[in-house]
Amino acid sequence: MCGIIGYTGRRSAAGLIIGGLRRLEYRGYDSFGVATKPDDGGIAVFKKSGRISENECALDDLSGHHGIGHTRWATHGIPDDRNAHPHMDCRDEIAIVHNGIIENFAHLKKDLEGRGHTFRSDTDTEVVAHLIEEHFSGDLFEAVRMAVKDLEGTYALLVIAGGDGRLIAARNSSPLVLGVGDGEMFAASDLAPLLEHTERVIFLEDGDIAALSPGGVEICHAGKAVTRGVERVAWRLDDVHLGGFAHYMLKEIFEQPQVFFETFRAPVSDAVAHAVSRADNISVVACGSSYHAGLTFAYLAESLCGLPVRVWQASEYRYYPPPLPGSAGAGLVVAVTQSGETADTLAALKQAKAHNLRTLAITNVPGSSVTRIADSTYLMRAGPEISVAATKSFIAQLAACMRILTRLCGNSFDEVISRAHIAIGEALLTDVSDAVAICASAASVFFVGRGPFYPAALEGALKMKEITYIHAEGYAAGELKHGPFALLTPDTPAIALCMPGATHGVMLSNIKEMKARGAPVIGVGVKGDAELAEVVDVFIPVPETEEVLQVLTATVVLQLLAYHTALALDRDIDKPRNLAKSVTVE
Ligand code: M6R
Repeated sequence: MCGIIGYTGRRSAAGLIIGGLRRLEYRGYDSFGVATKPDDGGIAVFKKSGRISENECALDDLSGHHGIGHTRWATHGIPDDRNAHPHMDCRDEIAIVHNGIIENFAHLKKDLEGRGHTFRSDTDTEVVAHLIEEHFSGDLFEAVRMAVKDLEGTYALLVIAGGDGRLIAARNSSPLVLGVGDGEMFAASDLAPLLEHTERVIFLEDGDIAALSPGGVEICHAGKAVTRGVERVAWRLDDVHLGGFAHYMLKEIFEQPQVFFETFRAPVSDAVAHAVSRADNISVVACGSSYHAGLTFAYLAESLCGLPVRVWQASEYRYYPPPLPGSAGAGLVVAVTQSGETADTLAALKQAKAHNLRTLAITNVPGSSVTRIADSTYLMRAGPEISVAATKSFIAQLAACMRILTRLCGNSFDEVISRAHIAIGEALLTDVSDAVAICASAASVFFVGRGPFYPAALEGALKMKEITYIHAEGYAAGELKHGPFALLTPDTPAIALCMPGATHGVMLSNIKEMKARGAPVIGVGVKGDAELAEVVDVFIPVPETEEVLQVLTATVVLQLLAYHTALALDRDIDKPRNLAKSVTVE
């Protein structure tokens, strides 16, 4: 959940690290810190609670060409200056930044305190600095190698020391990628901060320990030197710039026509095609918006291809009894995850593998952990998603799912889907201002839909609550009368997805029932739907399109509604409170 970055080279490290942390802030933004190794020796540190953008950074004190930085999403210890990373050893000679959780930290801390170490934070991370101190006698690589032997849990670590000229990186179940420059090297939690410096990267494997110096890197795994290939990343620097938009979320919403087109047209590897065509049932494991994409996939796969699909919240899959012997058949477990790093999704996938089930990942991030665990990967083409709220990655997940469906049941609707980007582009022009005025003053908002519009309603509610902080719930429209009706008042508007097709008539009835209980209703339907326009308080017309594409256009409208409501309420849209983009803890 935290972001880490390290640099060694000819440039001044501190400014470069602060710039990189700004790109990583979406991973966590409770506090931040930088440590550098000044040329005249020792370690210089600056760390602070709050966001980088809210703080003046005293960079003048952070000289040197070698350093590490961290932006935090607190797990152990409140977000204050003391608990901000980097953390140091007793003698302030070793500085470390860490993403992950050291599960046995309490035991290690007690032991280290017994041996005279003094702790200055409540974090799990600080034990690592003291453990390295125990082993350090001039060779930092060796000290880290010895220290990590005692660690249980997950970590991506970057370490510098006054008495060693190298930057040491270690990875276990937390993402860590190295950037290869000309006479300089980088290390970071993900690609975003590297793009402006290099397109050549090395993805470390779990268990790798790397020693970086300006001229290159030496990597060791299980005590032996190993070589990891240098890859070129296809992401562009433009992808991480606002490009004239007020927020990344809006920029990413407007990228969706292109993202859908490119993801749907991405080549399907033989391994993915084989996995999909062999499956006689599918289990999807995912969290948050990715889970909603899975629900949509299930609806489409069962209704269009007759393939049974079960969708799991990954956090539940893990603790559910294992599949009954013989029940899985030729089952395929599909992990859907934008980041490829969500802890619950990774754990669910590992669980599936432990049960000898075949696995496929749908992800957006090349080299991410999920790509290393799954048997095969469908790589989405959404480019980096910076805003914490998932938008273009959700649309890309639907594109990937629809692509898989065309594999499963022939190309009968391939032509329809190939027009999706046009429908999405038209939906972007929808005026949601009247609905925004109602939602912005609401105490609570309900989102309702049926069939494939039920997951769309869930996703709309998640977007609304996540970035506006207005309580919002998604419901299958038929369920409201089984309890939630008790909550309906003039302060609880309902957004009803009422598209043409099998559910249109019953949706109209549900809308009338809600209005009879005093709730204002905002109807999302196709242009020219006079029946719907007449029964709702606000009608949001979207361009008419084929049924399978209406899920996409409805989703876009709900994204715009959440965005503009958050804007009206002056919320911190790209970095909502308490959240982080990549949830790497269970
Ligand atoms: O990276 P993932 O797709 O695995 O992330 C899953 C969820 O954490 C994510 O979709 C989250 O719900 C979003 N912030 C929703 O906008």
